[in-house]
Amino acid sequence: MTTYDIALIGFGGVNRTLAELIATRGEDLRKQLGFGLRVVAITDLRLGSLVQDEGIDLAMALGLGTGSETFAEHGGSAEPDNERVIRSCTADIICEATFTNPDDGEPAVSHVQWALESGKSVCTTNKGPVALRGTELTELAERNGVHFEFEGAVMSGTPVIRLAKKMFAGLKLNGFEGILNGTSNYVLGRMEAGLAFHEAISEAQQLGYAEANPAADIEGYDVQLKVLILANELLGARIQLADVQRQGISSLTLEDIREAAREGLRWKLVGSAERKPDGTVTAAVGPVALPLDHGLAGISGATNAVSFSTDLLGPVTVSGPGAGRMETAYALLSDIIAMHAKQNRVAAHV
Ligand code: HSE
Repeated sequence: MTTYDIALIGFGGVNRTLAELIATRGEDLRKQLGFGLRVVAITDLRLGSLVQDEGIDLAMALGLGTGSETFAEHGGSAEPDNERVIRSCTADIICEATFTNPDDGEPAVSHVQWALESGKSVCTTNKGPVALRGTELTELAERNGVHFEFEGAVMSGTPVIRLAKKMFAGLKLNGFEGILNGTSNYVLGRMEAGLAFHEAISEAQQLGYAEANPAADIEGYDVQLKVLILANELLGARIQLADVQRQGISSLTLEDIREAAREGLRWKLVGSAERKPDGTVTAAVGPVALPLDHGLAGISGATNAVSFSTDLLGPVTVSGPGAGRMETAYALLSDIIAMHAKQNRVAAHV
């Protein structure tokens, strides 16, 4: 049976949870999926790096974190040394889950490039490299005969990107509109219940939805990246970040929300893109007061949803979690499963 050797770049919540899944459910997954997973390298800003071709003791790695211990005390190094590890380790697949830098996508873009250049497939939950350099990185993967998968970049493990690419074959996708940020949606819901803006944000932070700096969620930057990814990947738009108009929800007052409710409307932060008759694609994120019978008006709390506009089916809506450790770790697993399926299809045609 095939075993894929994997390297975890970034050992925060998402890759840690993937390691936990492999440690606790690896045998079940092997039986169910027909392949095994073995972690042969881990790098992390705080823990350093560890490379063990025969497989890392995941219980040991998962036990590190709160103290001052690093991988140096376990046969590794206190330095992450990402380039050396990514280029020289024996992994088949690099799981990239470092932070998103929305300006240039670094250092994740380099992580992905180093891996693809050295003949390793990549799965990432990182919006930066996909939104800002997605086309180029996909072409690099193709040139090197490896895979680049990124389901978790939008709506975590809820199937959206692959679903639309695979299941909408034969019809025309003309656009989409979605609630793509759980924090802002949660905040709007709590304001509707009467909480002040800052109280709602601090609740979202306590619940772990909002980023430490919630501006990315509240001012629409997070959705801007997600809209860019969906527009380029699914609508074939060749647009840049600046082409996605952006407005957040910070200017909405409790009175705006009350007034909308009186008129049978509900404010939502909506990310959307539309193909125009001339073939160009326009894209935007901003607050929209939706009628209560609109498909996205009932999406509450931190849940996400995206409604695709199709020519043969009309609107098709997918709803599910858009964040969370397990939900995002599952996205990486789903990427590896997709790579395995592609690999088997290639093998069947040789
Ligand atoms: N902070 C984001 C949200 C999750 O609230 O939806 C990651 O994209």
